[in-house]
Amino acid sequence: MSKSFTAHALHSLKSIGSVAPSSKFLVNNMLKSIDFSKPLVIVEFGAGNGAFTKSLITKVHKQSKLISFELNDDFVQELSQRLGKHQQLNLIHDSAFNFEEHLQNLGVKKVDYFVSSLPLALFNAQQKSEFLKTCSNYLQADGKFLQYQYSLNSYKKLKQNFNKVGLGFTLINVPPAFIYECTNALV
Ligand SMILES: C[S@@+](CC[C@H](N)C(=O)[O-])C[C@H]1O[C@@H](n2cnc3c(N)ncnc32)[C@H](O)[C@@H]1O
Repeated sequence: MSKSFTAHALHSLKSIGSVAPSSKFLVNNMLKSIDFSKPLVIVEFGAGNGAFTKSLITKVHKQSKLISFELNDDFVQELSQRLGKHQQLNLIHDSAFNFEEHLQNLGVKKVDYFVSSLPLALFNAQQKSEFLKTCSNYLQADGKFLQYQYSLNSYKKLKQNFNKVGLGFTLINVPPAFIYECTNALV
């Protein structure tokens, strides 16, 4: 039997950064601005056991590409068994910090949406700045970098790397979460 999300989280809290998978309220709230009716390139960071991946894969256009990164071996295996049949999904068992190399291999030059569950608070300042700058450079002009966090610690860092950062909140999640919606819009 596969280990539960919480069992993994208690074993590796420093890399997983949460004790429970995201609620459907958080998932729906974070994805609500995406227009799924057209083909998109969506890059997901920190897929875990699939709270966002499952929702994304059922919503995306058949010509979309969903590229999901996850480091934990068991989560990757579980996702691959459950969602591997979807041809839009590229599940990548590697660190999100290596995403550029994988996008190049897949021939992807621009991204419509980044959907990130990464525990940003656990990464060092320089690593975070370089990563967010690279994501910002990959965004389509009307694209978005979507990220949830349990605190406002990363707000300043996101504002340094994107032109505009909107803030939302979802109470029904363990723990309640802030949603950052970052764009390079010039307003
Ligand atoms: C807070 S959990 C979120 C899981 C799931 N997306 C959800 O919302 O329920 C963060 C996930 O990011 C993964 N992770 C942490 N650092 C990572 C990295 N550098 N690259 C890819 N995944 C990473 C962890 O293994 C964990 O599954």
